[in-house]
Amino acid sequence: MDLHELERDLEAGRSLVSAAKRIVVLTGAGISAESGVPTFRGPEGVWRHDRPEELSTPAAFARDPRLVWEWNAWRRERIVRCEPNAAHLALAAWALRRPGVRILTQNVDGLHGIAAVMVAGDRPPTPALPLELHGSIFHVRCTLCRTRIEHRDKIDVSSEASLPRCSDCGALLRPDTVWFGEPLDPDAIHQAFDEAAKADLCLVIGTSGEVQPTATLPRVTQANGGAVIEINPEPTPLSAHAEISLRASATSAVPALVGGPNFSRNA
Ligand code: OAD
Repeated sequence: MDLHELERDLEAGRSLVSAAKRIVVLTGAGISAESGVPTFRGPEGVWRHDRPEELSTPAAFARDPRLVWEWNAWRRERIVRCEPNAAHLALAAWALRRPGVRILTQNVDGLHGIAAVMVAGDRPPTPALPLELHGSIFHVRCTLCRTRIEHRDKIDVSSEASLPRCSDCGALLRPDTVWFGEPLDPDAIHQAFDEAAKADLCLVIGTSGEVQPTATLPRVTQANGGAVIEINPEPTPLSAHAEISLRASATSAVPALVGGPNFSRNA
């Protein structure tokens, strides 16, 4: 895509954005790539060298909880060093100033939430906060009881006995993220499909569209008469169906489409 084509597509995208009353934004690992969080697929993706079936399934945790925690601890240590980028900040500011925007994310890194605090201060209003469809790597839940808490402490992965345990019942805690083979939280997925169906526009940023049921959300918007804009430097299975595909990175295309954090474009 040359610069002229990109500018033309951006202009067409801005028209769709201006005309839409309800907009659902679906983000994936690509939006955090420029913050330094590794994506899952592609040349630099973690699934190139790490095997999801050994690290990110209920069976893997049952077999070797220490190994699964070690991998999650490594990811947490990497993510805490990362900051929201221009795309996270632009989206948070846009969702605050423009009614009808809802952010849904597959990311577990919490960067949308930090961006909301940076833009809106402590206790940001709901529209600036994402619905985290795959959970959060800084939350844990008990493998036995209903305990579910934020957890940012360093994890001692030296042995199974040192892994974090539930203060209520003593069972092992696990990361509160969705693993392969597990269903998404029914309330979250119901809300996501509802938002996608009501939206005039679905803005899809930095996802390969390989993981269901989230990958279906843009098609739900289209099936209900809405349009899709995709932002991704690489083509994806969604590209052929999107009204507009912006072949650009999130930090360049998102502020150009919706305005930067301090930008007063009435998009
Ligand atoms: P993937 O790693 O599958 O895809 C990342 C996408 O981001 C790719 O299409 C890249 O081309 C694109 N990308 C890379 N750099 C970008 C940039 N600077 N700007 C915009 N896009 C960029 O990540 P997801 O689609 O989020 O699930 O993966 C979906 C799920 O699969 C994850 O939530 C995780 C994973 O296994 C669970 O852990 C349950």
